[in-house]
Amino acid sequence: MNRERISIYDSRPGMAIAESIYNEFGAVVIIEGTILDRQTIDRIEGMGVLEIEVVTEKETKSNDSEDLDSRYRQNVKDISDIMNDLREGLALDMQKINKIADTISSGLYSHDDIVGKLSRHVDPDEYINTHSINVSVLAMTLGKWMGCSEDTVRNLILAGLLHDIGKSKIPLEVINKPEGLDPKEFVLIEQHPKYAFEILEDVDGIDNEVLLGILTHHEREDGSGYPLGITSEKINLIGKILAIVDIFDAMTSERHYRKKQSPFEVFKQMQNDSFGRLHPVILNKFVKNMAQSYMGAVASLTNGQRGQIVFINNNKNSKPIININGELVDLSLESGLKIESIVIKNKIL
Ligand SMILES: [Fe+2]
Repeated sequence: MNRERISIYDSRPGMAIAESIYNEFGAVVIIEGTILDRQTIDRIEGMGVLEIEVVTEKETKSNDSEDLDSRYRQNVKDISDIMNDLREGLALDMQKINKIADTISSGLYSHDDIVGKLSRHVDPDEYINTHSINVSVLAMTLGKWMGCSEDTVRNLILAGLLHDIGKSKIPLEVINKPEGLDPKEFVLIEQHPKYAFEILEDVDGIDNEVLLGILTHHEREDGSGYPLGITSEKINLIGKILAIVDIFDAMTSERHYRKKQSPFEVFKQMQNDSFGRLHPVILNKFVKNMAQSYMGAVASLTNGQRGQIVFINNNKNSKPIININGELVDLSLESGLKIESIVIKNKIL
């Protein structure tokens, strides 16, 4: 946890207290993790405490942050160029793809960055390109969480980058259509994994597992997916991983027709709606690890309050316990109360 000592006069509502405040008898008056509101600030000031420790955002030098941003933008542009080339009938630029894969493999972007700060600048018009980078990073991360070999992790990175390139064969007005697609357009969109297979099958340096993973990334365990309608045993590990991270990124990204959703809402929906459709063990691994990475984060709730995530029960990953001004609120017991967004992402180390 990163912390900073600040004057009480510089404190602002929404900041999280990093160190408990005691009274003259040594009793805790404000507990560590409390999110400041106006009343609490006045109370601390009234006690004569002039300096407090607060949680600060991850220590990243602004240069590093700008670097990360500009590298991400460059990678997104590279994907956009690759898609445009394919639209014009040019060959797939594998050199460019491998360069982006090297950047992702170097660990420059973490899953935190994808859901957090990098997503703040994303234009919904760019979704198809940012989504490829995001799915690649998330697939790599999930592969590592699952203990996959280095070769499989590399294949996951490549499969993530290339999984939607079949959309280059579909008219842009259908791809970018903000409202609902008509049945004919749906049928066309559902062909994109096949189109990707056709583009990639003769490309050197693409492993068969990558090809199969891309072909099956919209298939579902129970056979309810597309384009083939095949079941679990015919979907390879890469296809199963892509299916999960593809849905997660789609739901946590800003789109033309709906706002991005908080990761915790998405965990809940994925666990409820995808029962029998996504691989349960892989989904569980993903949700558990993603959720745990939000320990210590400050969340904004649907009732307007803010609090720090202090406990995540593995059986109720989408409903953590939140410390709101020293009071512990268990979201699993509050049916109407949800996490609306993550305000500050901090880990308790
Ligand atoms: Fe897709």
